[in-house]
Amino acid sequence: MKDGEGLYTQRCAGCHGDFGEGLGRWPALSGRAGTLAGDRPVKTIGSYWPYASTLIDYVRRAQPFGDAQSLSNDEVYAVAAYLLFLNDIVDEDFELTKETFRKISMPNERGFHDDDRETTERAFWNPNPCMTDCKTDIKIIDRARILDVTPAARPRRQAID
Ligand code: HEC
Repeated sequence: MKDGEGLYTQRCAGCHGDFGEGLGRWPALSGRAGTLAGDRPVKTIGSYWPYASTLIDYVRRAQPFGDAQSLSNDEVYAVAAYLLFLNDIVDEDFELTKETFRKISMPNERGFHDDDRETTERAFWNPNPCMTDCKTDIKIIDRARILDVTPAARPRRQAID
């Protein structure tokens, strides 16, 4: 993890913030636990991600943004360990390896469940859904170019915290 801190500061903090809090509109990687059910949910490694393996794999394939796959495997493990530490998931001296990652249990792991709609919602389904020419009584009442769909002024950007 200690190796990860320097690397994170050099290669990641410029966008994601010193503590993973996210800078400007770059994504936050830590904190916001318990926000998912609230009005302003923020998905972070700690608040959302179910498995550490996803984090390791994603960083290995896709980060640092704009310079993907420039880290060695050891660097990926080190920086991922540091991100887990920033999310209070592992201790400061935790060493992330292909063996130790299996011991990690992520805070939101139980927030996911299998899609059960096929059994729970089956009763609502139409057994013979129409797939072609379904509506015959369509009347065109207006055209987009004369509808007032373009706002006159640029909308103000909504701030995200
Ligand atoms: C130039 C800015 C930049 C840098 C530097 C950068 N990232 Fe990112 N990072 C991004 C952006 C943008 C995304 C969102 C990408 C997307 O959704 O396709 C992202 C997404 C992520 C995510 C997923 C966040 C989520 O919950 O979806 C992780 C994890 C991550 N970065 C880790 C890292 C690590 C580790 C480093 C350093 C090795 C790093 N990033 C460096 C910009 C950056």
